Amino acid sequence: MRTRALSLLLALAASFFSPSVAITDTIDLTTSVSGNQTLLSAGGVFQLGFFSPTGARTYLGIWYASIPNKTIIVWVANRNNPLVRTPGVLNLTSDGRLVIFDRRNTTVWSSPAATTGNQITTRAAAQLRDNGNFLLSSDGSGSPESVAWQSFDYPTDTLLPGMKLGMDLKKRLSWNITSWSSATDPSSGIYTFKLVMGGLPEFFLFRGPEVIYASGPFNGAGLTGVPNLRAPSFVFKVVSTRDETYYSYAVTDLSLLSRFAVNGEAERVQRYVWTNGNWSSFWYYPSDPCDSYAMCGPFGYCDMSATPLCSCLPGFQPLSQQRWDLRDATGGCVRSTNLTCAGAGDGFWPMNRMKLPQATNATVYADVTLDRCRQVCLANCSCRAYSAANMSGGVSRGCVIWAIDLLDMRQYSGVVQDVYIRLAQSEVDALSAAAAARRRPNRKLLIAVVATVAGVLLLAAIGCCCFWRNVKRKKLQAKTAPSASSRGQRQIDDPIHSEEDLDLPLFDMDVLLAATDNFAVDYMIGQGGFGSVYMAQLEDGQEVAIKRLSQKSLQGIGEFKNEVKLIAKVQHRNLVRLLGCCIDGDERMLVYEFMHNNSLDTFIFDEGKREQLAWKNRFDIILGIARGLLYLHEDSRVRIIHRDMKASNVLLDRNMVPKISDFGIARMFGGDQTTEYTMKIIGTYGYMSPEYALDGIFSMKSDVYSFGVLVIEIITGRRNRGFYVDELDLNLLCYAWTLWKEGRAVDLLDEAMAGTYDYSVVLRCIQVALLCVQVHPRSRPLMSSVVMMLSSENATMPEPNEPGVNMGKNTLDMDLYPIHTGTNFTAVDAR
Ligand SMILES: *[C@@H]1O[C@H](CO)[C@@H](O)[C@H](O)[C@H]1NC(C)=O
Ligand SMILES: *[C@@H]1O[C@H](CO)[C@@H](O)[C@H](O)[C@H]1NC(C)=O
Ligand SMILES: *[C@@H]1O[C@H](CO)[C@@H](O)[C@H](O)[C@H]1NC(C)=O
Ligand SMILES: *[C@@H]1O[C@H](CO)[C@@H](O)[C@H](O)[C@H]1NC(C)=O
Ligand SMILES: *[C@@H]1O[C@H](CO)[C@@H](O)[C@H](O)[C@H]1NC(C)=O
Ligand SMILES: *[C@@H]1O[C@H](CO)[C@@H](O)[C@H](O)[C@H]1NC(C)=O
Ligand SMILES: *[C@@H]1O[C@H](CO)[C@@H](O)[C@H](O)[C@H]1NC(C)=O
Ligand SMILES: *[C@@H]1O[C@H](CO)[C@@H](O)[C@H](O)[C@H]1NC(C)=O
Ligand SMILES: *[C@@H]1O[C@H](CO)[C@@H](O)[C@H](O)[C@H]1NC(C)=O
Ligand SMILES: *[C@@H]1O[C@H](CO)[C@@H](O)[C@H](O)[C@H]1NC(C)=O
Repeated sequence: MRTRALSLLLALAASFFSPSVAITDTIDLTTSVSGNQTLLSAGGVFQLGFFSPTGARTYLGIWYASIPNKTIIVWVANRNNPLVRTPGVLNLTSDGRLVIFDRRNTTVWSSPAATTGNQITTRAAAQLRDNGNFLLSSDGSGSPESVAWQSFDYPTDTLLPGMKLGMDLKKRLSWNITSWSSATDPSSGIYTFKLVMGGLPEFFLFRGPEVIYASGPFNGAGLTGVPNLRAPSFVFKVVSTRDETYYSYAVTDLSLLSRFAVNGEAERVQRYVWTNGNWSSFWYYPSDPCDSYAMCGPFGYCDMSATPLCSCLPGFQPLSQQRWDLRDATGGCVRSTNLTCAGAGDGFWPMNRMKLPQATNATVYADVTLDRCRQVCLANCSCRAYSAANMSGGVSRGCVIWAIDLLDMRQYSGVVQDVYIRLAQSEVDALSAAAAARRRPNRKLLIAVVATVAGVLLLAAIGCCCFWRNVKRKKLQAKTAPSASSRGQRQIDDPIHSEEDLDLPLFDMDVLLAATDNFAVDYMIGQGGFGSVYMAQLEDGQEVAIKRLSQKSLQGIGEFKNEVKLIAKVQHRNLVRLLGCCIDGDERMLVYEFMHNNSLDTFIFDEGKREQLAWKNRFDIILGIARGLLYLHEDSRVRIIHRDMKASNVLLDRNMVPKISDFGIARMFGGDQTTEYTMKIIGTYGYMSPEYALDGIFSMKSDVYSFGVLVIEIITGRRNRGFYVDELDLNLLCYAWTLWKEGRAVDLLDEAMAGTYDYSVVLRCIQVALLCVQVHPRSRPLMSSVVMMLSSENATMPEPNEPGVNMGKNTLDMDLYPIHTGTNFTAVDAR
């Protein structure tokens, strides 16, 4: 539908504009603009002239000079007064008005006459500026005092950087934006986004008389319904003074073309950025169901992380339980117990992290403290709630009381404002008692939990036994020889000690043995694909992780050492640093910097710890992993394909910075990095791309696939393997793609993130992840594109197709190993 409208628009665009002659950026009392003539701003950014979308009607407008076909008109002078089948001329008249005349000299449109005190002189001129403003100054100087009229004060449907949306109380101007009627009809449509003043100012998107979205009241610090008004290259502000209240934005990167507009077709306000020959947009409101105005009715509130989305405020119950059960919450809620409206009969219950209820009809007391506010509310029987009126600088000041129904509330993690709901004291007491009970552990529940945990542990232990037997058997085969010489006996003729290796720290076996108490089990912190990992503190106090490789390398000592040397030089903020190695007989050990927060899987798949990872952390982790992988693939001196990217191979340092581990190990095991075919599958089912799992073909694109799986796991908090939706035999990737197709991708989010996320960024991540797991390696992006798409709001991205899924032909084998105990198992499947 939209693409058809777009192509129609593009087709029409060709006929919109006749070839034009740009003359200058200014008209004065003696010049005019007519026919094909245009004004071009000094830097060539904007152009002003007449245009005819359908041929019959002609309008005066401003568009981007640099964008081909000029399909986006950012301002229209006479949107509701077109020139019908007649050419027009724009003149500046001697009384200081810009006037559009038709063929018969009839005035079709005119700007208001200059206000008194701004005497028009013979030097008066109107200039088209590079910011898109068409500015008429009384003496031609363009200085602020001389401004008689400017197009920025009369927005059409678009806000450009520097334009204001709001109200100028002195000049009684409303800066609002209204959609076009249709793609080819600039006349005022039914969607308007504007500021409504009142108790607390708030921006509303109207469809005709009806509000469909509200920004949340402005509380001095921000709009309480837009908790994360931040984006790279943009600066947003909301200003409220005695003279004016407005929203405005600026771009820090001046080469960026951007606009903010009412999109009538999509029924939303939207910010667009021009990139790669297209307008892209990842930021719009309303952006999720909870953004629909008053979605949960009076005294209800919305929470994207709850099911159902709507809840009644504490002490309230649905007006109609039946409709509520049918997920129609618009009727809202009513009190369970009536207020007494007498002295100590009522109390308050705080609601945290709220988008404030619609407050244009609330009452604000600027100089009242929050304590006093409570008294004011108690003393007025119609008061339903109170809150601080001004949170500027994070400090509560002033007071707002609602003597009206509480509408359009939602709960977020990103907002820091509490609303105190007035309830009968008996309700407050009941709620306090219930809250206290929740804090006390429930005996029955405790017993049930203990029993369950014990059961799981038992199962895990059985699983571990199988696992250990297996590993032991392998070890036994591998280690009979080296154990004799493993007590730090250095062979004199050992080539590794006879060369000088200033750039490759070699650790002495004795040192490592001492630091780990002869590799005692107590020191073991993990069991990875290539061996066990021990934590140790060296004599100088440095904490290190020692990986004791259990597999036989196909390489000789010299080769191995070269490999280690190479890998030790691959250093990046998002890669675990290899400090050195230890070679003793057949025994090979790698010494790494120690990571205090263990591996990513111990967070995202852990019921207790997943809550510590808010969306922001998760996004930073995703981006960090992408950067680390990009470095391995494209930026380091040797190209390294990881071949085993997974959650347990991402370690977290003290500051939760993600670091990829185990890169380069595949090389040390003779994995030939130059051919794209391997005899040895090194990797983990669930993360392996179909072509790698089936045919052993690996490339950077197989790492990209694993990265995609990992991102989905980070977002959902679920493992790709071991995830099944009831009855539907969907694996996690298919499930993600299905939800994406149905536009419900947000349902994928780990509930533990509870509304802390930025919806558009989440969608972007999911889209990137789905692109990474495409069946065909060539459809997957390179890591450089991945990083670009993740970090730029305005990147254009293709729609993902169905993901490629490797069902794992060794499923039976794999199921022997406990998938849910966090054991970090790597399938090494000799083929
Ligand atoms: C602009 O219009 C011309 C034809 O008038 C067309 O060939 C070209 O593809 C259009 N460009 C864009 C970006 O739509
Ligand atoms: C305006 O455009 C029309 C059609 O493209 C052309 O015939 C005419 O010569 C142009 N007029 C001027 C003044 O350039
Ligand atoms: C508009 O301005 C032009 C150029 O100054 C002039 O020739 C023309 O007569 C003016 N038209 C009207 C209606 O004043
Ligand atoms: C329009 O106004 C201009 C200047 O005032 C005049 O020269 C011209 O004859 C007028 N044209 C018509 C059709 O009245
Ligand atoms: C939008 O602003 C214009 C100019 O101030 C004003 O005339 C118009 O009534 C406003 N529209 C709405 C819907 O407030
Ligand atoms: C909020 O309080 C700050 C600090 O006192 C003040 O500067 C600001 O103007 C207030 N904002 C509003 C909207 O009243
Ligand atoms: C612009 O977007 C259209 C439709 O979304 C797409 O077909 C076209 O390839 C894009 N152009 C570029 C240069 O990305
Ligand atoms: C609560 O108040 C309403 C109207 O004020 C009344 O109809 C209703 O009966 C009252 N409920 C109780 C339980 O007193
Ligand atoms: C606020 O009060 C005015 C006047 O009573 C009313 O017209 C308007 O609808 C109210 N606004 C809301 C959002 O309830
Ligand atoms: C209660 O508060 C409302 C809103 O502030 C006000 O209109 C009303 O007069 C107050 N009633 C009393 C009894 O003070």
